[in-house]
Amino acid sequence: MHSSSSPELTQFAEDVLRGLSSTPKQLSSRYFYDDEGSRLFMEIMKLPEYYPTRAELKIFTEQKADICDAFTERRHPCPQPGEEADKDVRVPIDLIELGAGDGTKTAVLIEHLLATGVDFTYQPIDISQEANDALEARFKDKFPDLRIDPHTGDYFKVLGSLKSDNGRRKVIMFLGSNIGNFLRDNAVAFFGSLREVMNENDRLFVGFDMQKDPRTIVAAYDDKQGVTSAFNLNLLTRINRELGGDFDLDKFSHYAQYRPMECAARSFLISREKQTVTIAALNRSFSFDQWEPIFMEISQKYTHAMIDELSGDGGFEISREFYNDEDFYIDSLWRPI
Ligand SMILES: C[S@@+](CC[C@H](N)C(=O)[O-])C[C@H]1O[C@@H](n2cnc3c(N)ncnc32)[C@H](O)[C@@H]1O
Repeated sequence: MHSSSSPELTQFAEDVLRGLSSTPKQLSSRYFYDDEGSRLFMEIMKLPEYYPTRAELKIFTEQKADICDAFTERRHPCPQPGEEADKDVRVPIDLIELGAGDGTKTAVLIEHLLATGVDFTYQPIDISQEANDALEARFKDKFPDLRIDPHTGDYFKVLGSLKSDNGRRKVIMFLGSNIGNFLRDNAVAFFGSLREVMNENDRLFVGFDMQKDPRTIVAAYDDKQGVTSAFNLNLLTRINRELGGDFDLDKFSHYAQYRPMECAARSFLISREKQTVTIAALNRSFSFDQWEPIFMEISQKYTHAMIDELSGDGGFEISREFYNDEDFYIDSLWRPI
């Protein structure tokens, strides 16, 4: 049940109230990730239709040496006239991962960094305690020499603590095209707040899912096994549990669409019938018409021009890009400007 002493729940309650009172109704996808939501997302990553995880894993597997070189290279990657590229001198790094999940893809980079003797620490940050505990146990077992410092919490709230300068380069990773779940203005603001805690020698490494065949995209958000549906419906279960709601999950169905003109996939929960839902912690009831949608999540896809513009608007310039041309996916390494 809702506890007014928890600031997180108060914020959750406020956001649910605002979202269900607005037209059209919406719920923020940032609340998908309770422990069950994080577990369901790990199942989604294994689905045949969900290509982004495989696409990024392929980039890491095939280009790990180049990626790790770019993380640790001392000099500007494009030497000025008369200046030699100083590839052999490596800088120590703190590898900070926002929303690390199960860290499967990152493990490929960590293995390479350890094998090449780079001086680095790994700091995964995830809102799910369960996800973090599982990651820590697995990584300690797989990489006994790894210096790992996991943090459970909301990455929006821990940004300030990243500000300190310990003389090591921060490489902040935001993978899995997670940024696609932010509306453009929010993405620019998020990059701007990351920029504020970064020094000019630090780097930001962001995964972007690119524009591609609309059928491939829509299938990724509407899998045959119904795991994405369960992932969306889990937010109603969370509202029932934490805010005393009485959503009947059988009365809502998941629907996904992709709009090629906007390069954006969107997910909705559709009310199958006219109904009223009460949420005790809000002391409010909400009426739904038959077939009325709740907007749940945007998954923005990108063009090169969009990434270029986003980096500049966030206070960065693109330093290197790592492509998967088969699946149309890019990991982009940015430098503060
Ligand atoms: C889309 S998954 C991506 C996982 C991983 N980065 C990858 O690429 O496979 C999102 C992860 O971020 C975590 N997460 C979501 N919102 C968060 C937040 N506000 N603060 C910290 N972690 C968050 C979730 O628990 C989940 O593990």
